[in-house]
Amino acid sequence: MALNHNPFIELLADCSLEDRDETPPPTNNESQDDEFVYYESGEPYYKWEVNSFNVAEFEERYGNRPIFTREFLRYIAKKKDDADSALQKDKSLTLFHTPRIEEPGHGDRFIIGEVRDSHHYDDDIVSVRYLSRVELHPEFQQLRRTSESVGLLREYNDDVDTEGDWLPVPFALQLVERDQSTYHADVNKMGEWRDHLQQMKKFWINSKACKDIGDAILGCPIPVQRIVCFGLGTLPFEAKDFNRVLEHLMVLQLAELLDETNKEKGSSISPVEVFLQDPAYQKKDRQLLQGLRQGVKFVEDPQGVLAIDQNTLVIGAFVPTAFPLMQIMADSFEEGQGPAAFLIDNIQRRCDEPGMYKSNDRLSPRAEHMVENYTKHSGVFSKEALRKELQEALVGHPRYWMESMGLWTRKKDEQAPAGKAAP
Ligand SMILES: C[S@@+](CC[C@H](N)C(=O)[O-])C[C@H]1O[C@@H](n2cnc3c(N)ncnc32)[C@H](O)[C@@H]1O
Repeated sequence: MALNHNPFIELLADCSLEDRDETPPPTNNESQDDEFVYYESGEPYYKWEVNSFNVAEFEERYGNRPIFTREFLRYIAKKKDDADSALQKDKSLTLFHTPRIEEPGHGDRFIIGEVRDSHHYDDDIVSVRYLSRVELHPEFQQLRRTSESVGLLREYNDDVDTEGDWLPVPFALQLVERDQSTYHADVNKMGEWRDHLQQMKKFWINSKACKDIGDAILGCPIPVQRIVCFGLGTLPFEAKDFNRVLEHLMVLQLAELLDETNKEKGSSISPVEVFLQDPAYQKKDRQLLQGLRQGVKFVEDPQGVLAIDQNTLVIGAFVPTAFPLMQIMADSFEEGQGPAAFLIDNIQRRCDEPGMYKSNDRLSPRAEHMVENYTKHSGVFSKEALRKELQEALVGHPRYWMESMGLWTRKKDEQAPAGKAAP
């Protein structure tokens, strides 16, 4: 498979809680590139990043069918296993996807991944890239400059950067470097970090912020029995990024609160399961977090999305829009169903025109439709609700992460009983 760098590590380096300004300044006429739109803070922006595409019309044309159904996610998992196995046996393998009869592109065969025996490092792993609805749009794919996922598919299908044929393929597999860090082997530092996390946990438990989110989750109309998290990031071992510590403490404490409440009610429900997915996790994160709560499960694509059921609280903390979490989630449930709640940033659409979406939109028409069955929590999660010690630890950060998040809880469904098992 092409490209041997870890894009997720680059994304982490690029972590910012501030939104990009969506208003395009005037076009720079000096640019020779017809797809260049503007510069912002020295960064060039191209049409694929700022244009909007009629996704509603596109989805309608193909019968408004969900793409990332559970069946399709399991198919992706199987392709990933095949690539993993070739990698481990040091064999060459080309992986294909053949759209089914009802899907666009039926009759063609597309390459979605390549393992070359002599063309990878021993420590590489296979990662999944999903395409959002905008990235799948034929007009988006006609642009010369394009997103990483479409670029990867072009590379596999011998269409490097020309105005290409449409590649109606919703995913690709990519080899990326495995994390090589050895922080977990530093016994003294790990000890210091365990103590630090325990101390911060005490401050968190005794904060109003912890109580506020706990009350909101206990108040969900559909009870939460599982928490599935995406993109909470690697814990900052040397450099400081205290939001990531707070994100993990909040999740683990919510699980404890739900367990205690279940026990008080005399319920025989098993402990709340916590799934954590982030390709940036290191060995030290796994050890430290499992030390805070036993049984935390670390998963990789597509297992995280497959773990979401109707009693799940889903958390997506500034995941890149290149990972279309909301769109995948909406596809993976039957119409009218969805997880018990989700906590995510930036789900508002970037374009006012009906049906039009941009590449950095989290939602698609189908995902918007799913959100209609949810109520946005009206409470405010502000920095002031943190204890003084936690506020001090946040100094130097743009903002407290929860200030950028919205909590959406599923309305109780008259037809489907609450607590229905995972589809
Ligand atoms: C902008 S950073 C946010 C990190 C952290 N939540 C914070 O507040 O600093 C985005 C995170 O999403 C992760 N990410 C990217 N693709 C992902 C995927 N498919 N599943 C889960 N996490 C992903 C990146 O590795 C990165 O840690």
